[in-house]
Amino acid sequence: MSGKQAIALLLIGLAAGALMSVMAANVLRAQASYPQALMQVQQVQLGALRNAAKSQQCSGARAGEASLILDATARDIERAFYTNATVPADFRERAEHLRAAISEVRAARDCAQFAPSVARLAASCDACHQSYRQ
Ligand code: HEC
Repeated sequence: MSGKQAIALLLIGLAAGALMSVMAANVLRAQASYPQALMQVQQVQLGALRNAAKSQQCSGARAGEASLILDATARDIERAFYTNATVPADFRERAEHLRAAISEVRAARDCAQFAPSVARLAASCDACHQSYRQ
């Protein structure tokens, strides 16, 4: 191998290494911000449910979608916050309460049931935040 070839190989190796560490850093960053991202999604959908209750659109398409997105993302809370760690029993219990509250919202038949179920849902968010959100 000539000296030039050796230098070219060295440069390719360095560039590939740098690229891979950037990729690894991006994966780690995405994992680190996932819990907050999930919570932001929940916040937006809770807002949509509150608006639906306020504007008496309790069984409208937006309310249905919001509760569906809440339902799906709420199933990932424990995994999001405790990826490689044991989930504290108390945290799991609060997540279960949230999921039960979401089911209640989804089961509401009219505004008379929907509005109070959305209020209970918001209370289940606060219940976990009181213990786990600094
Ligand atoms: C089982 C526990 C739990 C439940 C239930 C829960 N959260 Fe959270 N939430 C947390 C924790 C823990 C944090 C703090 C995250 C951090 O800063 O690392 C948080 C933070 C947040 C944040 C701030 C996110 C950020 O960008 O820092 C928002 C917004 C939020 N939650 C909304 C909600 C909403 C809306 C609900 C209910 C629909 C909800 N949460 C239910 C545990 C929970």
